Amino acid sequence: MKNHNHHLLLESLVTVSTDHPEPLYQQLIQQLRLLIVAGRLHPSSKLPSSRHLAIELKVSRTTCTNAYQQLLAEGLLVSRQGAGIYVNTSLAVAVHQGISKTSHKASADPSKLTSSPLKTTATSGFSSEPDAKSFPFPLWARCLAKAWRQPDQSLLHDSHPGGYQALRQTLSHYLYISRGVKCDAHQIVITAGQRDSLSLVSKALMSHGDSVFMENPGYPVQREVIKSLGLKEVFLELDKQGAQLPTAYQQGTNLAIIVPSRQYPLGTAMSGPRKLAWLNYAQTHNCWLIEDDYDSEFTYERRKTDAMMGLDQTQKVILLGSFSKLMFQGFRLGYLVLPKPLVEVFLHTQHELGGMASLHIQPALSLFLTDRSFNPHLTRMRKLYRHRRDELCRLINLHLSPWLFVTPPDSGMHLVAFCHRPMDDQAITVRLKDRGISAIALSRCYANTGPCGFLLGFSGCDDQQLGALVEVFRQALLEGNLVLN
Ligand SMILES: Cc1ncc(COP(=O)(O)O)c(C=O)c1O
Repeated sequence: MKNHNHHLLLESLVTVSTDHPEPLYQQLIQQLRLLIVAGRLHPSSKLPSSRHLAIELKVSRTTCTNAYQQLLAEGLLVSRQGAGIYVNTSLAVAVHQGISKTSHKASADPSKLTSSPLKTTATSGFSSEPDAKSFPFPLWARCLAKAWRQPDQSLLHDSHPGGYQALRQTLSHYLYISRGVKCDAHQIVITAGQRDSLSLVSKALMSHGDSVFMENPGYPVQREVIKSLGLKEVFLELDKQGAQLPTAYQQGTNLAIIVPSRQYPLGTAMSGPRKLAWLNYAQTHNCWLIEDDYDSEFTYERRKTDAMMGLDQTQKVILLGSFSKLMFQGFRLGYLVLPKPLVEVFLHTQHELGGMASLHIQPALSLFLTDRSFNPHLTRMRKLYRHRRDELCRLINLHLSPWLFVTPPDSGMHLVAFCHRPMDDQAITVRLKDRGISAIALSRCYANTGPCGFLLGFSGCDDQQLGALVEVFRQALLEGNLVLN
């Protein structure tokens, strides 16, 4: 790695002020940290000496020495004997990569242009988003162009209740092949993702103040959505077979949201007998089951299980799907697959609410899913994510084993690293956030108390980024004892 021997001029990148409530050295630490984590300081860059920096920023030398000391302790900077202070190469290489390639030279290749913001997001934490560098943007661009060069005129009018017909048709075929769900196109409603799907369900089937069965632990975003829709949560316990059935005193609720294919966050796949027990429960208690099927495409050691809806003879299951993991997080399209008796009421409700899902990408998505390179793309992604899972597990075992342990998940895009001893996992995620890195505390997924640990995404980070993230994590854990008694 080439050294940048001319030291950086930080004056234009950093501003500190005595008007700010935080001490000057803290302001300096935060700004330098962000510059390093965001890749704005080159790997191996030499920083000005504390004396020079003090003159540049018109602050005291102690302010600069304190800031450098802190960043040295965090491992973001390294000191080379007699040569000065440098940005730590191993951290900087990883965080820098995704940004520098695209920002330095504009490329004629549309795939590189469109992917740059995603790369930037992916570098900021343990990302469970799809890998942006591997997304087939040229294919996606071709699908958009093909759909819009001579557009189907009906696309120009808002005349597609339930979504664009060709996409619903494609999806019904895809769901049969990939999830074992037999449905007609008219049973599918395209939505703007999970929130929109749940609003639709709530408006069509529930009244304000009704209760909903939800898994505990669960997806915090989903809990927030349910609360914001004026519904009350009733929590279901989990065991090795998946979500347990409601107890006798919990009954009287006509909607349950469960995640049978890969429980969020723990990754449990619901057993066959438990699925049948739920279907039986749904029928005997007249309860709708929302089957959240958010990332079932990515299985590694185990065979993909069919969706529960494929087993349903009772017409009580509603499948809730998302394109966030298949395409990319900002895509904002999802879908509901409805039992036939619910189709009319849902279309009516969607009409009342006003369709939120953008129509213009739907024909392109239909072409994309039927293109012959789509399946090979998924196979490549499965292989890549499996490798990244293994790499993250290796790094955790190597560097974080005094605090954390992990069992490699057999599917999905994130793993759960559990703490050996009770720790304040939420406080640690705050520390990580201060270092520009996002991770989710396991205890946040529990309604009350639960084990502590961390949800660490791996699909959106390459090996170097994972290495850098684990190193920052190690520094955050080393910083202090957050063990709970
Ligand atoms: C449990 C769960 N359900 C659903 C989704 C998909 O949500 P959306 O379609 O809003 O991206 C996610 C995304 O991470 C999830 O974790």
